[in-house]
Amino acid sequence: MKPSRRVIGAEHIRDARRRQRKHVEVMPGDIVTPEARDQAERLGIALRDGPLPRPQPEVTDGATSLRRALWRRSPRWIAPSARRARQPRRFGRIAFVGAGGVGSHAAHLCAMADMAEEIVLIDITPGLAEAFALDIAHASGITRSRCRIRGGQSLAMVEGADVVLVTAGRPRAPGMTRADLIEVNRRVIHATAAAIADHAPQAVVVVVTNPLDEMTYEMLQATGFPRNRVLGMAGTLDSSRFRHALARAAVVDPGDVEALTLGSHGEEMAPIPSASTIKGRPLSAFLSPDQIAACVRDAITGGGHVVALKRTGSAVIAPAHASVEVMDHLRGARSGAVPVSVMLMGEFGLDGVVLGVPGYLGEGGLIEVAEISLTDAERASLHAAAEAIRTRLAS
Ligand code: LAC
Repeated sequence: MKPSRRVIGAEHIRDARRRQRKHVEVMPGDIVTPEARDQAERLGIALRDGPLPRPQPEVTDGATSLRRALWRRSPRWIAPSARRARQPRRFGRIAFVGAGGVGSHAAHLCAMADMAEEIVLIDITPGLAEAFALDIAHASGITRSRCRIRGGQSLAMVEGADVVLVTAGRPRAPGMTRADLIEVNRRVIHATAAAIADHAPQAVVVVVTNPLDEMTYEMLQATGFPRNRVLGMAGTLDSSRFRHALARAAVVDPGDVEALTLGSHGEEMAPIPSASTIKGRPLSAFLSPDQIAACVRDAITGGGHVVALKRTGSAVIAPAHASVEVMDHLRGARSGAVPVSVMLMGEFGLDGVVLGVPGYLGEGGLIEVAEISLTDAERASLHAAAEAIRTRLAS
């Protein structure tokens, strides 16, 4: 059956405005009246050609639904298992630019999850990427991973990648902030961006290089890609650290905790207690305000503690898992919103700045930013983070 054509008039636009929508979807064949176009321009509502990608509905099985329905009655609640979609996509090729700790561990995890037909590792250090590729491939006799994996030095090896994970750049040394790396790593990002734009023009780029939000901004500018295809990975890592801190403080399993961290991946990180829960209940049901504040501090300083202990580099295991979590959302292995750094276009009242916010992801990258409600203080810290990032980029 042919879908019926609609006439979109000014009243549709006013209705969209009342519902706080930022765009109206125009399907092929729809007629948009000139009044509607005027009205849309006046109200700042975009007319976007449909069909638009939709966030994947959260998928669950019957057993999980039942457990969720019954948990309130149970004296010993068992956390629902992590949401998983039924049929994740398998990427054709994932390229990893940077085969240091995070890049090589992430490649290893992707191979274990059989996430792509091919994994390509790239690093300027001669032999390093080849060595890790060979090492991971040797493990396939045990892991039975079907991924082909190869390594090399040339950035042109990003050729045809669906996803490029960029970890290349200098890590922090003890006493350094992430922002101290801005100059040196900007050059790495620009070289990488040029290769991606030439050889993988359709890729979704996930930036991990620090300072994260600033480098994501540089990647976006230098590739010229639309904002949906340049994401920064930090919020999944910072949320994981926050979740770990909350679980330790409340003496529960990490699986019993949902935790969200937004803002910058730096001094202005913004853990969001109002969107975090323990066993499905507000944090205050388990922790005092002081304990919550201590967990917020742990999330913010967690990366620095690892740097101080290691002395020669930063964390690798948690950032690698956090990178894979972003890829899992891209391939549809997980549903729901996930924190990512993206260029904001009016969301949360912010415009033209790259910042960590919750977003729905799909194979084309960001589908939309999830504008969750925040307390006034949380909203203020998001705005403070945006200001700090703007200032750093300008200086
Ligand atoms: C960290 C680095 C990777 O937070 O930024 O561990």
